[in-house]
This record gives sequence, C-alpha cells and structure tokens, in this order.
Amino acid sequence: MMHSVVLARRPAGNPVEADFAVMSESLPVIPEGSFLTRNDYVSLDAGFRNWMNEDSGDEILPAMPLQEPVMGLVLAEVLESKHPDYAIGDKLMARFAWQTHSLSDGSDFIARLPTDLEFNPSAYMGVLGDTGMSAYFGITDIAQLTSEDTVLISGAGGAVGSIAGQIAKLMGARVIGIVGSEAKAEWIRTTLGYDAAVVRSGDTSLSEAIHATCPNGVDVFFDNVGGQTLEAAITNMNHRGRLVLCGAISGYGVTPHGPNNLFELITKELSVEGFMTHFRHERYDEAREQLSEWLRQGVIQSPEHRLEGIENVGKAFADLFAGENFGKTIVAL
Ligand SMILES: NC(=O)c1ccc[n+]([C@@H]2O[C@H](COP(=O)([O-])OP(=O)(O)OC[C@H]3O[C@@H](n4cnc5c(N)ncnc54)[C@H](OP(=O)(O)O)[C@@H]3O)[C@@H](O)[C@H]2O)c1
Repeated sequence: MMHSVVLARRPAGNPVEADFAVMSESLPVIPEGSFLTRNDYVSLDAGFRNWMNEDSGDEILPAMPLQEPVMGLVLAEVLESKHPDYAIGDKLMARFAWQTHSLSDGSDFIARLPTDLEFNPSAYMGVLGDTGMSAYFGITDIAQLTSEDTVLISGAGGAVGSIAGQIAKLMGARVIGIVGSEAKAEWIRTTLGYDAAVVRSGDTSLSEAIHATCPNGVDVFFDNVGGQTLEAAITNMNHRGRLVLCGAISGYGVTPHGPNNLFELITKELSVEGFMTHFRHERYDEAREQLSEWLRQGVIQSPEHRLEGIENVGKAFADLFAGENFGKTIVAL
C-alpha cells in the first residue's frame, strides 16, 4: 500500500496537526517513462507553508490543492523503473510529496545521491540536504564571513540555523543566536558552540536584547525569520553590515509584519542579499563534500528532531512553527 499525507484543510496561521490527514491506496501501475520510489525519510521544511493557502501559487511552485498529497522533500530509493535515466536502487533527494511511495516521470526537482551513503541516511535531508546547504551557501558565499565579524542568526537552533552557527564558529566569528526558549538558548551554547543566545520574550524588546548581547553591533545577520526579527536586527547592524536573507518563517501563510526601518539600509550602507538554495543545484556536490569533510573531522554535528511513521508527518510540520524542534525536523517512514 501507498500512504500519503494530504492537505485536509487550509491552515489558519500556523499549521496544526489537524490540517493534515493520512490516505491509503494501492501502489500505482507504472506507466512507460516513469518510476516508483520508496521514500525512507520525509524532510519537514517550513517554507512549504507558503503554498498551502488558496491562490498562493507563484513562479516557484503552484498552490497545493486540498485532499492531495502535500508537496515536500523526501529521501527516496527507486523501487521499479520504466524511465531510461533512473535505475532500481538509485538514491534521490527529491521534491515529491509526504508519501511512503512516489510515482515520478522525472520532471520533479530531483538531486541524485551516491548509491553508497557514507553517513546516516537522514543526514542527507539535514546537514547534507537543502537546509545544511542553505547554511553553507549563506555563510560562505553570501555573508563572506571573516573572523573579525559578529554574526547574528535567527531561528538559530533550527535546521538551517544549527548548521549556520557551527560553520560561522569554524570561521572564527563571534556567533550569537536568536531562539524562542531558555532551553534552546542553553542547547545552542553548550551543544552547537554559539557564543551567546538572545531569547525572544514579551518582556524585553528584541532590539534591546540584541544590543545587550552585541554591544559593539552586528556585522552579519543571517535571517530565517523576517518581520519584527529582521527589523530588530537592522537596528543593531554596523556600518556596511551584510544581511543574508534565507527565510522569513514569521510571515509564512500570514500577513507579514514590516520591517519598517528600511531607511537604515541607506544610512548604514547595508547590503542585502536573499537566496534560494535550489538555484545553486549545480554546486550541490561541492557543498555536500565540504559539509561531509567537516562531519568526518567531527567539527560539526547534525542534530535532529526525529519522529517516526507517516501518521506523525503533520505533527512534525506543526512542530517547526511551535519551535519544538532542536535541529533538523525529519520523519523516518
Ligand atoms: N532560502 C532557501 O533556499 C531556504 C532553504 C531551506 C530553508 N529556508 C528557510 O530557513 C528557515 C528555517 O527553515 P527550517 O524548515 O529549517 O525550519 P527550522 O529552522 O528547523 O524551524 C523553524 C524555527 O523557527 C523558529 N520560529 C518558528 N516560528 C517563528 C516565528 N513566528 N517567529 C520567530 N521564530 C519562529 C522556531 O524556533 P524558536 O522558537 O527557537 O525561535 C523554529 O524552531 C525558514 O525560514 C525556511 O523557509 C530557506
């Protein structure tokens, strides 16, 4: 049988488990020119929330239809093939759907993996997958980080942030993370090696809390959150600082807030660059090799928030928005 998680209703604001349901059907017949995969892991990626609202389709992806399998990244192995380019046993990281099996004609976004995986397979969804490579491209190519820099990272204990912080430490920078709880603050300092953490709380303004931790200002802001967090970071940026825009989770599926201080981009001569990792597809082997080397040397680790079973995929996705995850959120099927 093939089990799929479908979009049962459109989330109102942050997604919750009840927005999703599991449907089961027989394995499909494979038409000529297609192949069938077994999906071993589902990667939960906050960005897919953007395409769950009605009429949310854009130049990147179409809006997700109701009662259809939810689009997402999976670690897949080809089970049967009638496609000339895909053979039984090929391992793929692919944008298919939250399913135990997928039928593809090869037109989906697919990145090939080595047949013999050197690391735990789930690592290819996290540190060696889209989120780890986002951290890599953002900190190296875009931030052009140096050991003189103070770097601030939002969503610091999530899939991207946990790797971005460790890479920034390897480059000798002073690294500060913004997180949602004291427990996560403690974890990013002791486990990931962040120099300090700023906890989002209703009591102190975020801008003041950043200033208290970065009294000499911020040279690089690596943003996963957007909105008010981005606004608070801009206020603390040093002259000619760099803003690396990776994500904006606080505005996914809801009306985004601000930032309302963009004039400071001019007065401080800040540079701003957003990026989408999948547009760097041709550099995945290079990024994966560097991240693999760091894993071999034991200088970075790959923390996971891991759940088991197709019935827990919706909960795992909701966990991202509730800040439950420490590291990469993944479901083993
Ligand atoms: N540009 C690209 O190519 C690319 C690729 C992959 C991911 N991304 C982006 O990277 C970011 C991280 O994605 P992810 O899927 O790996 O998730 P994640 O960082 O593993 O988890 C999301 C984290 O964001 C924080 N958060 C959630 N809602 C928030 C809110 N309203 N305000 C402030 N913080 C909030 C939570 O941590 P705390 O509660 O501890 O703060 C949560 O743990 C997302 O914005 C995603 O879209 C971009």
